[in-house]
Amino acid sequence: MSGMDFNKLFAAVLVAVIVAMLAGFVARETVNAEKPEKNAYSITVVDTSGAGGAAVATGPEPILALLATADIAKGEAAGKACAACHSFGKGEAARVGPNLYNIVNAKHAHMEGFAYSDAMKALHDKNWTYQELNGFLWAPAKHIPGTKMTFAGIKKPEQRADMIAWLRTLADSPAPLPDDAAISAEKPADAPHTDAENKDGEAKAKEEAKKK
Ligand code: HEC
Repeated sequence: MSGMDFNKLFAAVLVAVIVAMLAGFVARETVNAEKPEKNAYSITVVDTSGAGGAAVATGPEPILALLATADIAKGEAAGKACAACHSFGKGEAARVGPNLYNIVNAKHAHMEGFAYSDAMKALHDKNWTYQELNGFLWAPAKHIPGTKMTFAGIKKPEQRADMIAWLRTLADSPAPLPDDAAISAEKPADAPHTDAENKDGEAKAKEEAKKK
């Protein structure tokens, strides 16, 4: 089989997987949601226990330039898909996932007492910048291999921007929007965290734990 044929086959399989996941999602949403027709977002929940299981081929596209014009109301509506696992109000308890109030610029694994994955804990000294959120929400298991967040990701950059712009408002004083310099300096695609980087962070986390 030529490389081209293989690519075509791979693409066909990928499409089949995505269609199957979308069908499952639509079925679930139709059963659970009050107004399913409003949930036009292609958000799916999948089992990502096989690392990198999210069936997303390209991305994440740059996000900073989109934030200023993002639709916060749309982000909030799409947040219903997250609310199965996350609470968003100040001081609210964790669900399957941690509370997400004040998440922009917070540390990775920011909620005290929550049982994060080792992969997330290893990144604790890194902040949830807009770009980190962009990469993670694009494809959680690709961006942070080993994460416990079983969520396929948000493929469309505009929808990720809506979501991140809404998350930004969930704070006592929302983080500043990126300035022009930051926007033009943004890399085309924020590279996923490598295993080596995770190990590095893990070693640091262990050292920190020893110090305490
Ligand atoms: C199926 C459950 C589930 C869904 C749906 C889900 N999450 Fe998560 N999320 C989790 C879990 C579990 C974690 C902890 C991940 C870890 O420890 O690796 C997490 C972690 C996170 C974090 C990191 C928090 C921190 O303290 O570092 C962010 C940000 C996040 N989720 C955002 C979202 C957003 C936004 C959505 C909706 C678009 C979403 N999640 C949908 C389960 C979920």
